[in-house]
Amino acid sequence: MEKERLNIVTVGHVDHGKSTVIGRLLADTGSLPEGKLQEVRDQCARNAKPFEFAFLLDALKDEQEQGITIDVARCFFETEKRHYIIIDAPGHIEFLKNMVTGAAAAEVAVIVIDAKEGIQENTKRHGYLVSMLGLKKVIVVVNKMDLVDYAEDSFNNTETEYRAFLKKLDLDPIAFIPISGFQGENMVKPSDKMTWFKGNHLIGQFDALVKDDNADKTKLPFRMPLQGVYKFTEEGDDRRIFAGTVQTGSAKVGDEVVFLPSQKRSKIKTIELFNADTLAAAEAGRALGLTLETQVYVQPGELLVRVDETQPVTARRFKSNIFWMGKAPLILGKKYKLKIGAKRLPVRLIEVVSIVDASDIGAINKTQVDRHDVAECIFEAVKPIVFDLAGKIDQTGRFVLVDDYEIAGGGIITEEITVDKTLDEEHVKLREESWVRGWVNSAKRAERLGHKATSIVFTGDHGLGKRKMAAALEKILFDMKLNPYFMAYTNLNLGLDSDLEAQGFNRSEEIRRLGELSHLMTDAGMIFITVVAVEDGFDLELLKQINGPTGLMVINVGENRFTQYQVDLTVEPHENEGEVTAKIIDLLKAQSIFV
Ligand code: GTP
Ligand code: MG
Repeated sequence: MEKERLNIVTVGHVDHGKSTVIGRLLADTGSLPEGKLQEVRDQCARNAKPFEFAFLLDALKDEQEQGITIDVARCFFETEKRHYIIIDAPGHIEFLKNMVTGAAAAEVAVIVIDAKEGIQENTKRHGYLVSMLGLKKVIVVVNKMDLVDYAEDSFNNTETEYRAFLKKLDLDPIAFIPISGFQGENMVKPSDKMTWFKGNHLIGQFDALVKDDNADKTKLPFRMPLQGVYKFTEEGDDRRIFAGTVQTGSAKVGDEVVFLPSQKRSKIKTIELFNADTLAAAEAGRALGLTLETQVYVQPGELLVRVDETQPVTARRFKSNIFWMGKAPLILGKKYKLKIGAKRLPVRLIEVVSIVDASDIGAINKTQVDRHDVAECIFEAVKPIVFDLAGKIDQTGRFVLVDDYEIAGGGIITEEITVDKTLDEEHVKLREESWVRGWVNSAKRAERLGHKATSIVFTGDHGLGKRKMAAALEKILFDMKLNPYFMAYTNLNLGLDSDLEAQGFNRSEEIRRLGELSHLMTDAGMIFITVVAVEDGFDLELLKQINGPTGLMVINVGENRFTQYQVDLTVEPHENEGEVTAKIIDLLKAQSIFV
């Protein structure tokens, strides 16, 4: 059987001995390449400088460089029981960057404290970060015990003080261990200089750790972010392949699965690998493609889960612990691009709950989050996102924020926030309250024009004749002496802003603008007609909200794929325009838009 793996990260105040502890572990577990230790010792002697275990890491780094994308050194050592991967986080910035982006998912944190210097600012800050990141397995080593003559008192004082601090963070370390990394005391065997210490030595403690089920990704519920949908192009084959990497759990052929947030369900028919092999089960860590028993239409970015397991959360607003590293501060109201799983979409910062002064765990009152701040924030996404709370399934509870094309922050979702009103609804309410009106109200306008105002939008796939239908509707209503206005959607971009792409939020921003325009046109009493391609029902919901208070009629052309939105009418692709118009006129009459 293959040995278990465990990821460990070392943190602690500068110079307290993180690298030394790691170097010593590598040397004393015999995990260094043959002759490496001697080579580094000789080199030091030649240059007349004292030997440091930390130099071992530098020497190894060069050798291990290839294929490592993270900027912390990763070292490997092995005991009878396990393989260990230990990450040397030189500073909290690197540590956080890698933890929040998931590049270095450690399960155990070793906090190193210098026995002589005692608890320092970063000792506290790192304790906080460890707790914020949801790392529950913490070992505290009190290092450099040789500098305090291996005195029990000194160790006890540090332990008492730091325990009290961690308690405020709800962190209960597994062990405090007095060591000397440099002298090799209590590292790989019990120290005879500290016989007063009855606990495990460091390696003994590592081996005694029980790996979480939670860390065993295959035992968690099945989660597969949908990366892409591919169609077989061979003749007569209309299968679709749903591709992605399974983050956690497993699913097998025949399992009932559902895409979220669209809630489209099906059963797994086959599980395919890129080299044409098929599998019986899709397991955590594998990049693969699935075919389903029924035809479903979904967009990349959705999360595929099993119907019979714990469901993730679907919400627009959420609370999170974030770490900000953007050049510009994170500010209220501005849109940022959120990446969670395979989904990318705009979010807005709603509230800075607290900025944490991590060395003191006091909250600082600020309304923006500056570079290198750690903060508790509430965001709202433009559409529902799907996630698991951090601590339940870390892989799907972690996100990054992009500002100006760069990763500017990252964090974990700690809470789902339910709200009475989304930002858009609040906006519409406020807009209606502050709208300045003239003497002509909508009733007077309707009386003069001979009809009430409304919006009609045609939606559906490209090339099904939507625009032709919309234009025909305009003509017929016009001939009936009504006041329709057909606006081809592309006109909006020609007029209002051609730089949407550069802002990176084209679709939802376009929908919002269309909604505002449509609201204006109906406020002016028109029957506003337009054609729009939408991603999903949430887009239609948004359009309807912004367009309010007048109604929005949605005409779907072709197969109806909206699970979250009930359209008013579905017509055939290229259906006769006269017939389509007649149906719409019936609906308009039923809604008393005109008689
Ligand atoms: P940064 O990476 O700069 O944050 O430091 P670090 O925490 O990795 O510390 P490092 O291992 O580089 O050690 C800092 C200094 O402390 C070095 O000069 C080490 O030799 C010394 N040191 C580390 N451990 C011990 C120890 O157990 N006893 C004594 N006497 N010195 C130690
Ligand atoms: Mg170091």
